[in-house]
Amino acid sequence: MKKLLLIGNPVEQSLSPEMHNAAAAGLGIPYQYEKRCVQPDQLEKTIMELRNGEYEGANVTIPYKSACIPLLDKVDESAEKIGAVNTIVKEGSKLVGYNTDGTGFVRGLKEISPFPIDQSHILIVGAGGAARGIIAALLSEKALCVTVCNRTESKAMELALEWENVKTVSIEQAEKNLDQYSIIINTTSSGMYPHTEKMPISLGTLKAGTMVSDIIYNPFKTLLLNEAQKRGAIIDNGISMFVYQGALAFEKWTGLFPDVELMKETVVEKLR
Ligand code: ATR
Repeated sequence: MKKLLLIGNPVEQSLSPEMHNAAAAGLGIPYQYEKRCVQPDQLEKTIMELRNGEYEGANVTIPYKSACIPLLDKVDESAEKIGAVNTIVKEGSKLVGYNTDGTGFVRGLKEISPFPIDQSHILIVGAGGAARGIIAALLSEKALCVTVCNRTESKAMELALEWENVKTVSIEQAEKNLDQYSIIINTTSSGMYPHTEKMPISLGTLKAGTMVSDIIYNPFKTLLLNEAQKRGAIIDNGISMFVYQGALAFEKWTGLFPDVELMKETVVEKLR
């Protein structure tokens, strides 16, 4: 049996083991995915264990996505730019870090959005780690125009300075002009359980047919997605990002692209 590991703290709530074990079973390959709650002073030892031990690779989640970087032998260029690694692959004797969060999000988005990314004006709400990964992936798909708005405007401005083709607006400005965007993506935790009454942006000017995506999957349908749907938007929740980031990591470890529908069903079943 080949073993894979999720490193984070906390990890109790994570459905990655169920999702990856279903993917491996679906393909009939001998992989077993485990999760481990790692204390900060145990991170280095855990990464050493990956290098020397029985694991083929790992996922890294909160709070170690940045902290693990100096402990690896090599980091993929885009993960380096994002400043976060969510996937570690053992390549020979080397541990290599990748980030599949943003690329996973975009892969999921492309499945459902009617708008080609390279022809889209895209609004990103939020300027944290999740936004960074998604922006990097959208730009590598040649997004026509990416605009960021954030509760703390200075963070959006700092982020925009790092990339060409990224603009910023205030949340108020964005709210006045939502009809300019064909795709709107919430990358904040506003609206996540238990604060389900919150919305990161109000949708008064949203036009029907806009693609609205939320990286939150608890609740399944955030207030933002509910309101967007009422206004005739096409909506997608955070299950897509979770499943596709997992599928891309799985492909890096095994060389095989798994059955995403099976992974999605497994996750949805567990969340029900
Ligand atoms: P992550 O890695 O998940 O992106 P993060 O780096 O802490 O987490 O970033 C969280 C993002 O969600 C930020 O853009 C944050 O806005 P601020 O920069 O103003 O803090 C945003 N966010 C979190 N809670 C929010 C809320 N209740 N309303 C609006 N924005 C919120």
